[in-house]
Amino acid sequence: MNICVIGAGYVGLTLSVTLASLGHYIQCIDKDNNKIQQLNNGFIPFYEPGLAELLEVARKNIVFTSNTVEAVKSSAVIFIAVGTPAQDDGSADLSFIYSVLHDMYQEITTFKTIIIKSTVPPGTCEQIYQKLTELGVSPHLYAIASNPEFLREGKALYDMLHPDKTVIGINDGDTTTVPLLQSIYAGINTAYVITNLAGAELIKYANNYFLATKISFINEIARVSDKYQVDIQHISKAIGLDPRIGKEFLKAGIGYGGSCFPKDLRALEYLIKKEQINAPILHAVQQINDTQINIYVEKIKKHLPHFSEKVAVLGLTFKADTNDIRNSQSIPLIQQLATIGYDVHVYDPKGVIPKNMESLATQHPSLAETVEGSHCLILATDWPAFTSLPWQEIKKAMNGLFIVDGRNIWNKKEIESYGFTYIGVGRP
Ligand code: UDX
Repeated sequence: MNICVIGAGYVGLTLSVTLASLGHYIQCIDKDNNKIQQLNNGFIPFYEPGLAELLEVARKNIVFTSNTVEAVKSSAVIFIAVGTPAQDDGSADLSFIYSVLHDMYQEITTFKTIIIKSTVPPGTCEQIYQKLTELGVSPHLYAIASNPEFLREGKALYDMLHPDKTVIGINDGDTTTVPLLQSIYAGINTAYVITNLAGAELIKYANNYFLATKISFINEIARVSDKYQVDIQHISKAIGLDPRIGKEFLKAGIGYGGSCFPKDLRALEYLIKKEQINAPILHAVQQINDTQINIYVEKIKKHLPHFSEKVAVLGLTFKADTNDIRNSQSIPLIQQLATIGYDVHVYDPKGVIPKNMESLATQHPSLAETVEGSHCLILATDWPAFTSLPWQEIKKAMNGLFIVDGRNIWNKKEIESYGFTYIGVGRP
């Protein structure tokens, strides 16, 4: 099938490469000419395991271009996968979606199915209908569907090929869009959930909200277990064995980050306030996350009262297997440590410190240089490379004995056996 995907970001590119590998002919559009040039040279502009390799395999079925008009004209199916970043008030910025509609509406002269992949507030697809009507496009010439993605960075390809569900939101009376999407996704084994447009839009927010809630819940319990000398990992294990709860997303630590959870929860909060709905859990989930770093920083200050000492931070990215530092909890952690006066040094296997933070911390190309002479070693990202460290060598290289485990990946007893002081939350 001839398919046009607008947006060569995280979602759009993973979708394009996957659909091309399934045998569809894909035109993947992005306004950023630089990115298009990189993609045409086989270079993926962000780190996602397996994507470059699959692109290589599917190369003959995919074209990268900035020409929206030509691509829309020659495609019957158009996926919109552009960004919807948070605005200052928390609401989702839909200007990229509207700009795409402006670029393409004159090409809707034969029947098109427009599928919204971007995360958008409930009611957006309805507004898209209104917008296209205002622009003079006949509603008989197109159908709109909401088909949100649930991809995890670092596992995006796996999630695209093995989704736990595929959610499709359609208009009442639309009998063609679901079979069309099912034929596009033929070859992918998945459970379909069919709902109305706003239903699909809201499912995406509810999914992320629930996962973020699990993380904030366990972080709150970690605060309690800290006071009662109880290991939070025992609690996560025990409650996770209850199938009604499930073991995933119960890892306590410095909190969640990334391009989705913080943005989507803020957007949902904006909507809830606007509609005057009382939803106290939503605010609490964010408040716990926003204050989680403080608990660690207070413990560091207590153990390291000389505020000019060198501290080594392992990890900049919001989680492992990505180079994405958007809303990473490592950023406020570094900012707080630098503001206190500590001499902050950082290492990350993929993430790069942003220019505006270079005065706050020094990034090193190796773990050894970062740790050298430090008084305290702090784990901020759970990269597999950090799981088992040569503690004897680290002790020799360091100038102090404090180890802060912000992800609960280290064995406290083992670390203490080297003479270190292990600092965590909910880790007696
Ligand atoms: C998330 C959703 O999982 C995905 O379905 C959606 O489409 C986009 O947002 P992603 O942002 O890639 O995906 O990250 P995810 O793996 O969900 O982790 C989010 C954050 O939560 C990370 O900072 C991670 O370190 C943190 N986390 C996760 C915890 O602190 N504890 C956990 O138990 C799990």
